[in-house]
Amino acid sequence: MEAQLNNRKIVLGVTGGIAAYKACTLCRLLVKAGADVFVCMTEAATKMVGKDTFAALSGHPVSVGIFEESKEISHIALTSNADLVLIAPATANTIAKIAHGFADNMLTATTLAATCPVAIAPAMNSNMYANIATQDNLKTLVERGIYIIAPESGELACGTVGQGRMKEPEDIFEDVVAILSQRIEHNKNYHQLNISQDKLPAPKKPLELTQTKLLPKSIGVGLKVLITAGPTEELIDPVRYISNNSSGKMGYALAQAAARLGADVTLISGPTNLDCPKGVKRICVRSALQMLTAVDEFVTSSNIMIGCAAVADYRVENISPIKIKKTDGSDTLTLKLVKNPDIIASVGLRESHRPFTVGFAAETNNCEQNAKDKLKRKGLDLVVLNDVSKTEIGFNSNNNEVTIFDKNGIVSHYDKQSKDVIAQLLMELIINRAKN
Ligand code: PMT
Repeated sequence: MEAQLNNRKIVLGVTGGIAAYKACTLCRLLVKAGADVFVCMTEAATKMVGKDTFAALSGHPVSVGIFEESKEISHIALTSNADLVLIAPATANTIAKIAHGFADNMLTATTLAATCPVAIAPAMNSNMYANIATQDNLKTLVERGIYIIAPESGELACGTVGQGRMKEPEDIFEDVVAILSQRIEHNKNYHQLNISQDKLPAPKKPLELTQTKLLPKSIGVGLKVLITAGPTEELIDPVRYISNNSSGKMGYALAQAAARLGADVTLISGPTNLDCPKGVKRICVRSALQMLTAVDEFVTSSNIMIGCAAVADYRVENISPIKIKKTDGSDTLTLKLVKNPDIIASVGLRESHRPFTVGFAAETNNCEQNAKDKLKRKGLDLVVLNDVSKTEIGFNSNNNEVTIFDKNGIVSHYDKQSKDVIAQLLMELIINRAKN
């Protein structure tokens, strides 16, 4: 999750629903992911959670009253340069105000002034949610391009059961990442429904139409994706090893993107400091030989294999069972290295049960030619070239810039941007290619 929202400014609006306490977790998740979060509360929300809690969590003053506006936190300043206004929880009252253009408190004024995307996570009693007034207001917001993060069904704070419970903070966080990566499309069905107020005086159940739809989410459903990530470590003796600068960020971002798209993802990871992405099965390994064994176990049942790991090309032939001591009388130590098996080539060159195979090429010179050679030599369907001579991308950076080749030449190029966004674009491309 780290750095997924780096350099993103998010205004988090909190209104007076019991779910306001969940906004604390949401705020923490956003901050942890690198976002600069400015919290704006309604008066009612401050009865649920103290202003100071959000100030501590976000690291910024919290704005509440429109008349308390200081220059730093005026409603205009709040939205200036903001990437997203996110209101969670959003009460029926605030939703109604926004739908009708009210600007009678700091949050509604801020929302009205916003030129960035706005997302709303409703939370209320199920009858209030189902009421035609609320549904019409939500419909208005959807039509204006506001994202509605639809509430879930379940037991509500008021003791009733129904739709109206705010989505869990972790899920809203995922939606925010998706929105900021521009991967959400509004539910167009809303417009297709021929509903007018006189036809539907009292809806029996909430319209199911206000849900944001993670558009490409389903494209990975039914697919098994195997991904290698991170470095390998090749032991010299019990305390020393040979490795490289791979952080695992690119491979983990791919795993997360594939899982978001609905795929069943297995991540074979060399040693990294990263948390396992949500919904991903991770197998931790250390050496190239261990990585190969793990890949062999899963490859035949996989539809797609992506080799993003920076696998050591060589390992020490004879690992010393004891710590190698400095020897007197010699200034050098000779290690004999032997070639490691090429993992991605062992997949790409399979004759049966061969998944759609994608490799990376980490190059410093003669990049395009080397990448094309790797595509051919390793039997790849696609190769993703990154120029790792550029320190601001590639190894251990949060960003990357890649060019994708198939046997006919360049397929696509993604300019320098976060590895999360690159991963999402790549996974959509890979899945679409693998299916055709
Ligand atoms: O982990 P990060 O810090 O986020 O950095 C990302 C990255 C730069 C490591 C990543 O984007 C990348 O380029 N990964 C491939 C690194 C690499 O080893 O490239 P290569 O050109 O040496 O290898 C070509 C391909 O063969 C790769 O798919 C590699 O996984 C695979 N390979 C290489 C050697 C080997 N013995 N077995 C392999 O499977």
